[in-house]
Amino acid sequence: MSRSAKAPPKGSSSAKKAAAKPNKSSKEGKVAPRADPAADAIAILEADHREVERLFDKFEAAEGDANKRDLANAICVALKVHARLEEELFYPAAYAVLGDKSLIEEAQVEHASAKDLIAQIETGAPGEAFYDARVKVLAEYVDHHVTEEEEEIFPQCRRSKMDLDALGAIMALRKQELMAGFLVSNPILALS
Ligand SMILES: [Fe+2]
Ligand SMILES: [Fe+2]
Repeated sequence: MSRSAKAPPKGSSSAKKAAAKPNKSSKEGKVAPRADPAADAIAILEADHREVERLFDKFEAAEGDANKRDLANAICVALKVHARLEEELFYPAAYAVLGDKSLIEEAQVEHASAKDLIAQIETGAPGEAFYDARVKVLAEYVDHHVTEEEEEIFPQCRRSKMDLDALGAIMALRKQELMAGFLVSNPILALS
């Protein structure tokens, strides 16, 4: 899979990727358990985006079923936690202040479609038909969604009256709580 070959409809986020700080988690297949409590809401979400892009790139280069399984599991958990943060906290706050509500509604529909693919990946296994294809399509889907968030939704939120620092503090706590729950049920993600 060549992530550079996909065609996000509204520009590339490669410049942002290049400028982004590396995430604390660097071990293959291991997920970052904490968000920076000092980061504002958008910085937390953008750090999540960079982390999942890193995991998709690792999956693309991975060899061996065990490596692929660990990376796919890490991708699924990272995306599920991220989607919960957005759906429970960020999207409702953005919906309240943005003039164009359709952006948030479309983002939530895209989440639902991504969750269907995530569920298929979680019930599958590397080596099975369509497994790699599902991860590849999920990567393309997420890239499109992230581009819309970062180029359309987040800039409007930054120009709005949203209190991104206060929201970020709440989101950092919620992320720790959600990650703890997933890691308790999937300890291999933290220990491998
Ligand atoms: Fe999203
Ligand atoms: Fe997002």
